[in-house]
Amino acid sequence: MCGIIARIGHGDAADTLLSGLENLEYRGYDSAGIAVQNGSGVKVHKCSGEVSDLKSTLSGRPNGNMGIGHTRWSTHGPPTDENAHPHTDTVGDVAVVHNGVIDNYDELRAELKAKGHEFESDTDTEVIPHLIDEYREKTGDTELAVQRAVDTLEGSYAIAAIVDGEEAVYAARKGSPLVLGLDDEEWFLASDVPAFLDHTEDVIYLEDGDLVVLEPDSYRITDLEGQPVDRSVDTVDWDPEDAGKGEYDHYMLKEINTQPTALSNTIEGRIEDGDVDFEDLSAGSFADVDTVQFVACGTSYHAAMYGGQLLRAAGVPTEVLRASEYETTSGPVDENTLVVAVTQSGETADTLDAVRTATSRGARSLAVTNVVGSTAAREADDAIYIRAGPEVGVAATKTYSSQAVTLALLTQQLAADVPDATPAADRAAMLEALESLPEHVETVLETSQAEALARETLDSKSYFFIGSRLGHSVALEGALKFKEITYEHAEGFASGELKHGPLALVTEETPVIAVLTGSGDEKTKTNAIEANSRGAPIIAVGSDGHPLSDVADAQLSIPETHPVWAGLLANVQLQLLSYHAANLLERPIDKPRNLAKSVTVE
Ligand code: F6R
Repeated sequence: MCGIIARIGHGDAADTLLSGLENLEYRGYDSAGIAVQNGSGVKVHKCSGEVSDLKSTLSGRPNGNMGIGHTRWSTHGPPTDENAHPHTDTVGDVAVVHNGVIDNYDELRAELKAKGHEFESDTDTEVIPHLIDEYREKTGDTELAVQRAVDTLEGSYAIAAIVDGEEAVYAARKGSPLVLGLDDEEWFLASDVPAFLDHTEDVIYLEDGDLVVLEPDSYRITDLEGQPVDRSVDTVDWDPEDAGKGEYDHYMLKEINTQPTALSNTIEGRIEDGDVDFEDLSAGSFADVDTVQFVACGTSYHAAMYGGQLLRAAGVPTEVLRASEYETTSGPVDENTLVVAVTQSGETADTLDAVRTATSRGARSLAVTNVVGSTAAREADDAIYIRAGPEVGVAATKTYSSQAVTLALLTQQLAADVPDATPAADRAAMLEALESLPEHVETVLETSQAEALARETLDSKSYFFIGSRLGHSVALEGALKFKEITYEHAEGFASGELKHGPLALVTEETPVIAVLTGSGDEKTKTNAIEANSRGAPIIAVGSDGHPLSDVADAQLSIPETHPVWAGLLANVQLQLLSYHAANLLERPIDKPRNLAKSVTVE
């Protein structure tokens, strides 16, 4: 986790660093800091709290044309001022920001202390500026010192460093993302593109082992031996507007409301004459696949459940596995196994690990991700982009919808390619209904009564979400979103499971939110009624005429559609319910406590 940024060019860097950090806060918001070079030493400004707290501690803006910045999600040491980045060497000549985890920091710290280096924080990062300082002393050359320093590190890192008196930013990556942004008059480095999207769309996705030196009028990329490496320049097609909050109070609300556009982009050009067409993955691409494993975490896991169910229905042997438990839950894997990493960020450590384990056993890999150039996209044999645009709110919303649709389309291609699989009998109707999905989402957004319902149910003790078949994964996702941003207790269950234990908790203070998709609804009805008999209010989420119409205390309506897409419309209602409940409770919706969007540690 953590977000890093660096900038060098003409004119002052501080404002650019601070606004870049604001766009990276989804990666962590425990503390923030910047360091700039202003010709009279490296000046560090940092504090615990958010970037807004850092800004309020600055009287004016420190000047200097180059600098580095950091927003933290704590791993080593609590979120104090001392543990905030940038960290420096003993005299403060070298300042470093870091995203990742240094596994051998304990022994490095002991060695450096024995040589007289003084430490101020509990972090693993602090060894890095001391190491650079140590090697500068030995070699008299900062670039060489950075090479040697990173060569000594075990673990993962994306780092950026500035050094007193030098017109340069030094950076390196291994296992943590780092993107170089190229503008006419300035260069940027950041953990993710939104940090500098206001300035440039031209980027280089750096690779593990790359070392970068930025100078005001040039940049160079080398390997750790100092040999130049060639990296291509990509153009990002995200609109800078997409990275901002626009007219909305929260990113999450914006992202919920822009789902019609996100979904249109996800679908665009991918259905040709009733067939699915995934750009580089032409018909027959999966002819050698006999088993599919989806690996994912959190919300992406729920999207994977959705896709997995559709794929199983098409007759393809499929496992949907929690990436963090892959080692012990995976069935046999060979070269005919396709492991599909479902990951919005493409950087989730657990998911990357699961894919690496599967590929080391011979599996072929496919990344389904939102982020071009992400680690998952680069490491997998193939990548399919969900094209949802940047998602900044920590709670995943539009990316869930775009993932589920992408996976449903993938299912259709796999069903056509994999021997013995059968595409859905009503595939034409299903794909036709998909074309109307963005419009149906728009209808939900315009007519939703979720805010009023959130107000009415706000005093509840606990919220239970139930659903069957495709509705099961939607119920799990609804509960995850609810607890994540409201801090209220919420659980999701397969409808039939309610009576196998959770029913003991049901009272008139535990609303049961029943997801009805037009398939498996009878089971949901029976179990909802059982809860209702014990006093639980029932909230039905479904289209008119659903089986709980006569029983439910409240409804969240969705337009009539194909059963494959109904769950996604129900989910939009659940996103709105969570959002409004959290808003009424005055929670920090875009930055829920203890969480970060991109979980790059295990
Ligand atoms: C919840 C949420 C998380 C992520 C999970 C995986 O709203 O966003 O549960 O879904 O951390 O992240 P990705 O998709 O980036 O692998």
